[in-house]
Amino acid sequence: MSEGRVVWIAVDPASQQVLDVAGKLADTATTVLITGESGTGKDQLARWIHERGARRDAPFLKIDCASLPAELVESELFGHERGAFTGAVARKPGRLELAQGGTIVLDEVAALSPAVQAKLLRVLEERNFERLGGTEPLHMDARVMALTNTNLQKAVEAGRFREDLFFRLNVLAIPVQPLRERRADIAPLAAHFVARLGPVHGRASAEISADVSPLLESYGWPGNVRELKNAVEHALVFAKGPTLGAQDFAQIAAANGRRAEAALKSLEDVEREAIAATLEATHYKIGQAAESLGISRKTLLEKRKKYGLI
Ligand SMILES: Nc1ncnc2c1ncn2[C@@H]1O[C@H](COP(=O)(O)OP(=O)(O)OP(=O)(O)O)[C@@H](O)[C@H]1O
Ligand SMILES: [Mg+2]
Repeated sequence: MSEGRVVWIAVDPASQQVLDVAGKLADTATTVLITGESGTGKDQLARWIHERGARRDAPFLKIDCASLPAELVESELFGHERGAFTGAVARKPGRLELAQGGTIVLDEVAALSPAVQAKLLRVLEERNFERLGGTEPLHMDARVMALTNTNLQKAVEAGRFREDLFFRLNVLAIPVQPLRERRADIAPLAAHFVARLGPVHGRASAEISADVSPLLESYGWPGNVRELKNAVEHALVFAKGPTLGAQDFAQIAAANGRRAEAALKSLEDVEREAIAATLEATHYKIGQAAESLGISRKTLLEKRKKYGLI
């Protein structure tokens, strides 16, 4: 894999800091823990680190601890000898072995079973392991990157994750912020996806209009970068012309509208509560309550009626 194929857009200071740390440890063999909500770019960052380090020509292998059954995670990770269990008809090397010299990514590491957590701890401590059903000691020479979108510390507190393994993995943690907390990345990411995905959808000359940025920047992006990528792709597919405008992000605009409405409602809730509390405190003396609220008697009476506080 050649250097620089994977990009990790970082314009906001929060993500520039992430990239700065990631760049510094690319050439080390330190275990890395990348944390962040779903869709924040953890996978992409792991690959970015791999591609910038001395290990870039060695394998980059991933194991999804959440989607594989526990027994399978174990044999996928450590490999097995022939006859190690029913169905083990031939020796099979595990990903730890196959990733020698390269990187092994443990995706959704919080989902590891207690048994595999114990085995993994041993591997990280002793740098040795055996295939399932085997005795030959194999040296571990893969760099481990663990990814999680759940709070591992909380999993430790809840007794679901070994604390000693947590410490081993947490040697160097890179927290990736949710997109809503690094809004300066939104427009550059959108432009990046237009450039990347435009040609795929026969829209190589597509551009994003400047008035779209405020729209995208005020949205909450619960699905983070993945959701932004999907929104851009959707716009590219359905846009009428070469320029993607606000109308092509109608769903985002609608969501912003709904949020504004909800915010307005909660503001009304606050007002209702303030009026109710003041009325009670003044023993329902309208003049006194109005004065304390800084509104006229008439307004107070209207609001009292509106909020059903009579
Ligand atoms: N900074 C970035 N620059 C460019 N593309 C990015 C960036 N961050 C994320 N992406 C893209 O957004 C999508 C989601 O990113 P990724 O799969 O890395 O997220 P994740 O954190 O691993 O999510 P999950 O927890 O759901 O596995 C991918 O298509 C990825 O290529
Ligand atoms: Mg991922």
